[in-house]
Amino acid sequence: MYNNIDFNNKTILITGGAGFIGSNLAFYFQENFPKSKIMVFDCFRNEETFHNGNLKSFGHYKNLIGFRGDIICGNINNKNDLALLDEHKFDFIFHHAAISDTRVYDQEIIMKTNVNSFYDLLGLAKRDRSVMVYASSAATYGNLSSPQTVGKENPENPYGYSKYIMDEIANKYSLENPDLAIVGLRFFNVYGPREYYKGNTSSMVIQLGHQILNGNPPRLFNNSNQIFRDFIFIDDVIQANIKACDSKQNGSYNVGTGISRSFQDISDILQKELGVDLGTEYFPNPFDDYQMHTQADIRASKVNLGFDPVVSLEDGIKAYIPDIKRLHGIKAT
Ligand SMILES: NC(=O)c1ccc[n+]([C@@H]2O[C@H](COP(=O)([O-])OP(=O)(O)OC[C@H]3O[C@@H](n4cnc5c(N)ncnc54)[C@H](O)[C@@H]3O)[C@@H](O)[C@H]2O)c1
Repeated sequence: MYNNIDFNNKTILITGGAGFIGSNLAFYFQENFPKSKIMVFDCFRNEETFHNGNLKSFGHYKNLIGFRGDIICGNINNKNDLALLDEHKFDFIFHHAAISDTRVYDQEIIMKTNVNSFYDLLGLAKRDRSVMVYASSAATYGNLSSPQTVGKENPENPYGYSKYIMDEIANKYSLENPDLAIVGLRFFNVYGPREYYKGNTSSMVIQLGHQILNGNPPRLFNNSNQIFRDFIFIDDVIQANIKACDSKQNGSYNVGTGISRSFQDISDILQKELGVDLGTEYFPNPFDDYQMHTQADIRASKVNLGFDPVVSLEDGIKAYIPDIKRLHGIKAT
């Protein structure tokens, strides 16, 4: 247990619960607090795609096989769908539903989905006096140099801007409603089980893992030993969500390990774990707005949330290997 909160007999809403982080959270509660009442609200996926060819939403029923709580298939942009939540009273709201694809450039749809709906969900939290934990993102920092620290933001894409605005809205809402608990979590690069159905927006850990299992050298951008990210395993992200429910102070908090590692490291660790040496195939980086280094400043997260990430990149990849193997060759649609 990450803290003393007893979630048994509590009613928990998880928006985006058919996605990567939300579904892991749903299973965390089911396994650790069997008497909790868990409700997933997610639009799942249809066959519509954005201009970049990616699906408009990544929720997938396979992330929820074995989940015994309630599921509502609904769109956070649709008031009638949100009204389906009215007959429930929530003790905790984990708001993870979003357009999570950082390379969607349709500003209108991103702002509507990620920002407008946030007002509705904050309204729900206010009505029920629920604890509100919501997903922000390291994308709020754009290309700012490491370590990224809350209070210095510079989003460089519509997605990052939408999360930045969510944080601003949350700050205002907290000031106006000082008795409400509202905590934003700025996730850095999360990897681990139940991300597979995000397709090519899933982490490089699983994408490179599958290239290696295909018998091919993993493909990386040129100079990938100089491109660093703060990669964080899903278990530590769940820890942050739970500890956020007991935050000493409202606000936005970084959720990374505080350590940056290169994409080359991922390739090397995977090959070691899979017992192969296929080398690496390098190709030019097509993005001119590419972030070269992220590393979360987690001092405030440690002090106010008690957040203490414990999984190294080596241990996270090792723990993930069986799942990467299980999913190899399975269609991600
Ligand atoms: N995974 C990461 O590395 C990472 C990093 C930073 C921030 N985040 C944020 O964390 C949250 C969860 O991310 P994830 O990796 O689980 O992504 P995900 O895409 O797997 O999950 C998001 C879920 O939201 C649902 N959704 C999308 N639009 C919706 C709508 N209009 N109505 C209802 N449901 C909708 C999707 O179906 C999906 O199940 C997101 O808000 C994301 O922006 C994730």
